[in-house]
Amino acid sequence: MRKKMVAGNWKMHGNLVQNKQLLDAVIADLNELGEDLVVVCVPYLYLPSVQKQLQNTKIALGAQNVSQHEMGAYTGEISASMLSDFQCQYVIVGHSERRMLFGEDNHVVAKKYVAVQNAGMAPILCVGETLEQREAKVTKQVIEQQLMSVISLAGVESFNKAVIAYEPVWAIGTGKTATPEQAQDVHAFIREEIAKQNLNVANQLTILYGGSVKDNNAPELFAMPDIDGGLIGGASLIANDFIAICRALRH
Ligand code: 13P
Repeated sequence: MRKKMVAGNWKMHGNLVQNKQLLDAVIADLNELGEDLVVVCVPYLYLPSVQKQLQNTKIALGAQNVSQHEMGAYTGEISASMLSDFQCQYVIVGHSERRMLFGEDNHVVAKKYVAVQNAGMAPILCVGETLEQREAKVTKQVIEQQLMSVISLAGVESFNKAVIAYEPVWAIGTGKTATPEQAQDVHAFIREEIAKQNLNVANQLTILYGGSVKDNNAPELFAMPDIDGGLIGGASLIANDFIAICRALRH
């Protein structure tokens, strides 16, 4: 059975007071979750306070970025071992905002993926096409390249300890969700690409959908056979919406 998962990506939002209120509400409601995984990926600075708040809960802690370097003279950067010091279990790598706004290419993303695994954490590898790429009908080529750069550096078996998030760039923060069929089509493609190299790895791989997931569209997205949950931006900041999305995993 593949693990189902909902991960909140808070991006650059929140403060100490708001974070506490949000998580108090989420913890109170979600603590009885069974096998499903709920993760919150918070800004670096809030890792210590959120780590404390999540102690003795079933909600896991994640980060949104990491340096590809192990240590050294990299002013302003945070290494994977620093993240694991704060009991981070997941780290988002290759988010389209990092790729587009901070110039991270497939090679850098692959190095970050490896750095996360070397420190004993699981990367949440984001892949996805822009609107121009979708219109030019190169979605699958783009995603294949994004996957292959990781596979060539880390090997396909590395996906035994990773999660993939398909996030079409045109659906992020725009209110334009991919239809369940559009998302399923790409999720199935991702699983097939991995299956070509290792069927067992593909069958157990959790593949999340991200891009304007809300409480009202989560159930139909999560009902698709290759969609194992979601990576949630805006709606992860609203306790009731996030809770409803987590609950949609069960239906
Ligand atoms: P939204 O849910 O706000 O569209 O963001 C999706 C996302 O980028 C999650 O990583």
